[in-house]
Amino acid sequence: MNADLVVVGSGLFGLTVAERAATELGLDVALIDRRSHIGGNAYSEREASTGIEVHRYGAHLFHTSNERVWDYVNRFTGFTDYVHRVYTRHHGEIFPMPINLGTINQFFRAAYSPAEARALIQEQAGELAGTDPQNLNDKGIQLIGRPLYEAFIKHYTGKQWQTDPKDLPASIINRLPVRYTYDNRYFNDKYEGLPVDGYTAWLERMADHPKIDVRLDTDFFDDGHEYSRAAVSGQVPVVYTGPVDRYFDYAEGDLSWRTIDLEQEVLPIEDFQGAPVINYPDPDVDFTRILEFRHFHPERDYTKDATVIMREFSRFAEKGDEPYYPVNTTVDREKLLKYRDLARGEDKVLFGGRLGTYKYLDMHMAIGAALSMVDNKIAPHFTGGATIE
Ligand code: FDA
Repeated sequence: MNADLVVVGSGLFGLTVAERAATELGLDVALIDRRSHIGGNAYSEREASTGIEVHRYGAHLFHTSNERVWDYVNRFTGFTDYVHRVYTRHHGEIFPMPINLGTINQFFRAAYSPAEARALIQEQAGELAGTDPQNLNDKGIQLIGRPLYEAFIKHYTGKQWQTDPKDLPASIINRLPVRYTYDNRYFNDKYEGLPVDGYTAWLERMADHPKIDVRLDTDFFDDGHEYSRAAVSGQVPVVYTGPVDRYFDYAEGDLSWRTIDLEQEVLPIEDFQGAPVINYPDPDVDFTRILEFRHFHPERDYTKDATVIMREFSRFAEKGDEPYYPVNTTVDREKLLKYRDLARGEDKVLFGGRLGTYKYLDMHMAIGAALSMVDNKIAPHFTGGATIE
């Protein structure tokens, strides 16, 4: 196939670009991925012995308030009426999250009204009133008061960052949500749900087009295939969704990421924790949370003989680890500006997605950004001769 457009990375950003370019613009698209499956981090598969769908790269919950994105994704999949709720285990007790009136009343063994709870938290947060917190610990206390901060946030954040919150910049958090109602719905978006027949069926439908040539196990930087960087550079327009620092051979240094080690276990019981996600904010366990996948699809007739759980351990990524969350230090931001300058100078290459822009993007954000890129950059180039840059 002689491609009109090469898309590097088949995550939701790359898939959306490829699908739109093929369907709407009639282009021949080569969609390459170095992994052996499509879908990037949204990929899921059935655990072999139980048939339970497991999100291979950590829990993925779809939610959006963007009408265009919602209409678009519904062309490829229906969504269940799953509503995400999270619980947290502190000192041997389970509390609802995010912090809400239920959490507060359980924690203080009280029956506060919304106004009473608000007054209490305000009073506790007053401990550091009028100060300008420089570290995350002080900021957390100033936002929600010491008791709730120390129970639910302090050690959880410390585990996520492998760093004592006293040594983390206050800028990591702007607000800590506290709800003065019993609403413990995790997301506030208009639409929410999980793909009815799984993520992979959805993602495969997006790529299922005669004008899209999917090449797996194909790294853009490996020579020896027709869509390698060496083969297409300056010849064919490229949408690149891999790591931006890798593209420029780390010329401005490595951008730092956090990664998660995922430990999966199949247990010979029907139900381990009764909920899809339970956080572990105490310092005596080193994982941050446990997922139990059967609870993402209560509508499915899963086996009652076994369940699949996954423990998450957070740490700084090293070379070769999966980059998950940008660390985004001041030094990272300086490097990113330099990479953005380099990216602007690249002929016929557009950078997009989580890795290509060094920005955490939820799925709906990745899809929305890809639709905009097609509208604003790719369509004008192919229909009006605008340059791609
Ligand atoms: P993504 O990382 O998915 O895809 C990039 C692809 O590029 C990968 O498949 C990679 O193999 C490929 N690639 C990289 N370099 C290459 C090269 N040199 N050659 C060929 N291919 C290359 N969102 C949400 O809405 N709800 C949620 O609950 C979650 N949960 C969540 C948990 C965790 C742990 C993470 C890290 C992320 C989420 N997300 C999420 C975010 C979601 O995964 C995100 O929206 C998508 O990853 C964005 O898609 P991209 O296409 O940008 O990247």
